[in-house]
Amino acid sequence: MSFLVLLPIMVALVLLQAPARAEKSHVEVLGSLHQVSFITALSFAGAEQRLEAAGSEGLLWVDANLQARRPGRSPGVVMSLAPHPDLPGVRYAGGYKGKDKRLGFLLSEDGGATWRQRAKGGDQALAFHALAVAPSAPATIYGFAKEAGLRLSHDGGRSWQAGGKLPAEAFDLAVAPNDPKSVYAATRAGLFASPDSGTTWQRRHPAKAPATFVNAETGGRLTSFIHRHGLVRSEDGGRTWSDISTAYQDRALMDLVIDPGNPRRFYAAADTGGVMISNDAGQSWLSIEGWRDQVPERITAGRRVFEENCQACHGEKGRGEKPGDIHARDENGLPVAPPLDDSGHGWHHADAQLAQTIREGSPRNERMIAWKDLLDGEAVRNVVAYVKSLWSFRSLACQGRRHMRCMH
Ligand code: HEC
Repeated sequence: MSFLVLLPIMVALVLLQAPARAEKSHVEVLGSLHQVSFITALSFAGAEQRLEAAGSEGLLWVDANLQARRPGRSPGVVMSLAPHPDLPGVRYAGGYKGKDKRLGFLLSEDGGATWRQRAKGGDQALAFHALAVAPSAPATIYGFAKEAGLRLSHDGGRSWQAGGKLPAEAFDLAVAPNDPKSVYAATRAGLFASPDSGTTWQRRHPAKAPATFVNAETGGRLTSFIHRHGLVRSEDGGRTWSDISTAYQDRALMDLVIDPGNPRRFYAAADTGGVMISNDAGQSWLSIEGWRDQVPERITAGRRVFEENCQACHGEKGRGEKPGDIHARDENGLPVAPPLDDSGHGWHHADAQLAQTIREGSPRNERMIAWKDLLDGEAVRNVVAYVKSLWSFRSLACQGRRHMRCMH
């Protein structure tokens, strides 16, 4: 299922759970970020330039081990997040609370611990799906809400007026670092730019496919994601483009931030709601679940474990006992050893479940024995790392609890 269908469904799913969540207050530690149902926006913000992730659980602070905690009460389901470029405690956000309630334009002055509605954003409270503050003139804020189109504020979000007409629904907005009138929009119809505060728009990337996010940096650098094309970059304000990476199949990156302490480390929110991490400036991606194990030493050690113990049944590179036939059965009518690469459904399981199957064996099929007496904990961890190294971006973004969002 592609994100074009997925996004509205996921919002609906999250909202159905929202009333119960809203009553829970001051939940602190939420555990690893990958356990959060749905992340929509990321930023590095505050005096310490901490990673923050917004989505189904409101705004979360994320530590270096990717453990998430919520600084206060959740304002609701956050769909857009924008930190103030100069004031370290100030965050702006938009989204939903409960089934029918739109949050309007939210302000926090304490890094997301408490929130209040600064303005409705329109005649009625709007659900902003995109927000962007002009870095060189932070009183200028652009917003997009499906129900009202482009909105514009010149007083830090206290009052809002209608902006120009965007060519299509926007997923993300960005403002050029040194010109508050120069704004970019990643829309369902592609990537567009406006030189005049959103009054007129011109296409900025030739692809007539949905663009899902856009970042604008100094010197005319733009980074964007084009659906079914990939992660693209321009160094000249969008006149020419090059591909950073293309192997995303039907999945998409909905937001992307660069670690201020390491310019080659990127974090991105995938359209499955999961967060992905890249250590090579966006060329390859790991899911944050178990990402520390995705290192060459473990993968190489895991490959050896696999070749010695598992390959006889699960096939070379985990292609399965009967490659191409995942439903094949043996002479006793039991399933043959399934593929462990993309073509099987190992990626439906979380790391812990995969490790458990390997340690304990399959209750349904004695050919898959319990390996715990033959392989120690490290070897099991390594073989899981190897198996995951065989997976595409799609399987990594869809792993575990998210796999239902990726069924065709
Ligand atoms: C003798 C053949 C055989 C060997 C050797 C073997 N397996 Fe399996 N494995 C199977 C079979 C058969 C199944 C299917 C079990 C079922 O249907 O419940 C399976 C299932 C699995 C699954 C679950 C896959 C899924 O999609 O749910 C994992 C993970 C797995 N094996 C990993 C391993 C690892 C790692 C090794 C080596 C340490 C290994 N297996 C060695 C036969 C084998």
